[in-house]
Amino acid sequence: MKKLFINIIVSIFVVATASSFASEEAHESSHDAAPAKSGAEVAKQCVACHGEDGNSLTPNFPRIAGQHADYMLHTLKSYKNGDRKNAIMAGIVAALSEEEMKNVAAFYAGQTGLSVVNIDDESKH
Ligand code: HEC
Repeated sequence: MKKLFINIIVSIFVVATASSFASEEAHESSHDAAPAKSGAEVAKQCVACHGEDGNSLTPNFPRIAGQHADYMLHTLKSYKNGDRKNAIMAGIVAALSEEEMKNVAAFYAGQTGLSVVNIDDESKH
């Protein structure tokens, strides 16, 4: 009986140590090992709502193709820190690092879509 008791204690210890090692590894890889994803890679998570290239297919989802990168980066950070509130976008950006937000903003800024009419140019016509 005593032997069985010791066996149980030992196996609990083994399981506990093994799982703490495992979680430490997972922890490290999410910080050091995993390089920031490229803009195109991150954008795969956005396709369902914002369309393949940021030209959303329905008005429920804003068009972000051709939007200014600095505007998008600011917006994504605002969803992340809660300054701009939207449950969907908050959930999306929660998993992105700042570098990944920068990359995906640059990716959508480079797509053809939104364009801003420059008033100065207009007046020259
Ligand atoms: C499940 C649908 C969904 C997904 C997936 C999604 N978005 Fe959005 N996105 C929305 C909605 C809805 C809004 C408008 C939210 C609001 O009113 O603030 C929005 C707003 C935005 C805006 C602000 C646009 C503006 O004109 O102010 C940006 C930028 C943006 N999303 C980028 C992304 C990026 C980058 C991804 C992928 C990493 C992504 N979204 C994934 C639904 C989605």
